[in-house]
Amino acid sequence: MKHIGVLTSGGDSPGMNACVRAVVRTATLNDIQVTGFYRGYEGLMENDGVPLTRYDVRNIIHRGGTFLQTARSQEFRTPEGRAKAAANLRAQGIEGLVVIGGDGSFTGAKFLSEEHGIAVMGCPGTIDNDLFGTDYTIGYQTAVDTAVEAVDKIRDTAASHNRLFFVEVMGRDAGFIALRTGIAAGAEGVLIPETPTDINRLVGYLKTDFQKKRRSGIIIVAEGDDGGGAYDVAQKVQSEFPDWETKVTVLGHTQRGGKPNAFDRILASRMGHAAVLALREGRTREMVGVQGNQIAYVPLEQAIKHHATISPYLLELVDALS
Ligand code: F6P
Repeated sequence: MKHIGVLTSGGDSPGMNACVRAVVRTATLNDIQVTGFYRGYEGLMENDGVPLTRYDVRNIIHRGGTFLQTARSQEFRTPEGRAKAAANLRAQGIEGLVVIGGDGSFTGAKFLSEEHGIAVMGCPGTIDNDLFGTDYTIGYQTAVDTAVEAVDKIRDTAASHNRLFFVEVMGRDAGFIALRTGIAAGAEGVLIPETPTDINRLVGYLKTDFQKKRRSGIIIVAEGDDGGGAYDVAQKVQSEFPDWETKVTVLGHTQRGGKPNAFDRILASRMGHAAVLALREGRTREMVGVQGNQIAYVPLEQAIKHHATISPYLLELVDALS
């Protein structure tokens, strides 16, 4: 393989730049030329790419977002869109592609490879940590750090005013960010989509707390929770405690931005490096994961079809310590 492409796709996540840097530097070391495509598959279809040398990826390892920018492309979901992208790759002699993104991006990569014979490797870049076959995705740990820092600040003001806060965190339909944030920030409760939310149980627990005069607290609500978002849950709980002031904070996109922590920089570097070596060895249609701190290759099909599972132990831990 003499020439590969790289792009970032879907929601950005802290560490994507570190991953692109690792792809470019590993490829250069192995005499492989790299073209970076802007705005994910949009740039691939528009042939909006730029040659990347090892010097072009200087001073980016610490930066949040993605300098290649990203997009969620509707057109690439169509066979016509993918044919356009494949034609652009072929015209430049690009035989392999590293896609840094989440499950939607990997679905596109899989189709591109099956339909047009382009070798593809995926690096899991999403704050949601919802891909099967990897213990961690790039950006997840940083997003948790960001959420914990925010909740710590909220706790100061919650305690000062005897208020009950419902803090909504991201994660789409997965509760990984919520669960880790809840444990690290010492939340009084965590509501996640993977377990049925029982508002009566929460109310019962809060009543005991309230009677003991512990009148401030933090409940973390995953945005995809079946009890509704933080506003819905807060409203239901508030009706049971007319004299207790509840507040809602939605952390939103603050969790996506910011510089990657050391964990994510190292994870992204390992994954980008492994993706290029895999392409060079002739591997394709796989995601680079880490399992038990070892690099693992997982077929894209598996990574996108199954969800990573929430640890029952961590769920118990939240309950035990709240
Ligand atoms: O997948 C990452 C993520 O941040 C989810 O947690 C969230 O539901 C979604 O993207 C938000 O997407 P957008 O930035 O397009 O609003």
